[in-house]
Amino acid sequence: MELMEGLLTRRSVRKYQNKPISKEVLAQIIKAGQYAPSAHNTQPWEFLVIEDKEALKHFRVMQRSALFAENAAAVILVCGREDISFSRPKEGWSYIDIDCSAATENILLAAHALGLGACWCGASPMTGPIAAIKEYFKLPENVKPFSIVVLGYPEEMPKQPERDNPERIHWGKW
Ligand SMILES: Cc1cc2nc3c(=O)[nH]c(=O)nc-3n(C[C@H](O)[C@H](O)[C@H](O)COP(=O)(O)O)c2cc1C
Repeated sequence: MELMEGLLTRRSVRKYQNKPISKEVLAQIIKAGQYAPSAHNTQPWEFLVIEDKEALKHFRVMQRSALFAENAAAVILVCGREDISFSRPKEGWSYIDIDCSAATENILLAAHALGLGACWCGASPMTGPIAAIKEYFKLPENVKPFSIVVLGYPEEMPKQPERDNPERIHWGKW
């Protein structure tokens, strides 16, 4: 799929066929995540692949809006590394979530390019889901769950709504 076509046709897909995703395909998708830009090129991400049915079901408890993960083939949990992200704790800022956003979007686009359906479900910055996911998957102290990317072969492809919004584009002056 051509890049621009992929960008313009991606949608969040929440209904999946009962069909597994091969390890090769999952690895390709994660590779796309690893090629995302990051502040100071710190690449402060790690990826947990979840295919276990019980764990997929448990997302409804950890992040209610991700409950459809129970019918998915896999979840890629995009996690941020707090110890290596470009940050200034004394000044109260970190690029960790921004970098993980870039990785998450690359993953969504790669999934779409490979014929999968995917939906980004939020974890960070919601304190409840972060704590629940961290505990359930026994993540190390320095690792923060950022996004829950739910994946499967699509049962349906939602139609693209109108996106063009010329009044939100400011050419040269506001
Ligand atoms: C930060 C973020 C968090 C999201 N969390 C959820 C979620 O918890 N559950 C869900 O079903 N969709 C979630 N979404 C998907 C959005 O609802 C979706 O991207 C939006 O409605 C636009 O639709 P599209 O992705 O098809 O363009 C999230 C998207 C983003 C970017």
